[in-house]
Amino acid sequence: MSQRLSHLLGTENLSREQIAFILDQAKPFQEFQRHPLKKLATLRGKTVAIAFFESSTRTRISFTTAAARLGADTMALQAETSSLKKGESLIDTVRTLEAMRPDGIVIRHASSGAPEFVAQRLEIPVLNAGDGTHEHPTQALLDALTIRDRKGKLEDWNITILGDILHSRVARSNIHLLTKFGVKITLCGPAMWVPRELERLAPNVRVSHRVEESLDGADVVMVLRVQTERIHEPSLAPDEYIAGYQLSPARLRLARPDALVLHPGPIVRGLEIDSAVADGPQSGVLEQVTNGLAIRMALLYHLIGGAAADAPHPAKDRLNASD
Ligand code: NCD
Repeated sequence: MSQRLSHLLGTENLSREQIAFILDQAKPFQEFQRHPLKKLATLRGKTVAIAFFESSTRTRISFTTAAARLGADTMALQAETSSLKKGESLIDTVRTLEAMRPDGIVIRHASSGAPEFVAQRLEIPVLNAGDGTHEHPTQALLDALTIRDRKGKLEDWNITILGDILHSRVARSNIHLLTKFGVKITLCGPAMWVPRELERLAPNVRVSHRVEESLDGADVVMVLRVQTERIHEPSLAPDEYIAGYQLSPARLRLARPDALVLHPGPIVRGLEIDSAVADGPQSGVLEQVTNGLAIRMALLYHLIGGAAADAPHPAKDRLNASD
């Protein structure tokens, strides 16, 4: 890797080389998930703090499992039951966690910029697990790994992102990552969620408000969860969203025949996506979940393990042993 990472705060400031390096390092960890013995000693003796100030199921379980499979211990902060409810500030909470001497901290927070704020104040690596509407870098990295695997490469595809782009940290991290690889992005959804200004986020981004047009020729269709609290009458009724933007089997046929469908989860079936598409042969949804573990193992290994970029890969021995 040309430039060593000390934190993972977003994809906007990652170089193409750094992204490719993380994806390459995730590959053996991906194979490792199929091994009967899923525990390495690589991070034995290390502790990862999992500080989720916002509710989460898959991302929290994924980071906790990734740390465990590397042999690390975790200390978890549960937002619902912690002293956050008593009015403690973000910095006091993380300083308290830091005083227990973790070797890295994974943070999810409702405020954009919270992980960066913490990274500026702590000595240990900070990994952003989603901050407000800003970024969700591990999601974009696992999406990139899924695209690279299923379609043979990451470069130069036409990718359509459907939904509430304005409030989506998943969309933002994906846009910053994918456009570094020459991907052309079409953003589509209701005008209030997909304003024209989003075209200025990165090169090769265009906005469309017509779903049929946006899907024409797409190699990958990424569907975002519709946050049900943001969908209400009279501005937008669920039926109107379904009629206008739901990814149905008929609409998917407008994309390329081998188009890959991705969704970060949790899926609201029957709202943003039809079940036949979510469960169909073009869906990569469950691969995304498995790839999330591999990406998070690669990141924890490099940020916390501190190995040299050209060190032998820790999963290789285990994989070779079963050959
Ligand atoms: C996403 C998130 O929280 O940003 N979920 C996830 O991490 N898989 C997307 C979402 O909640 O819609």
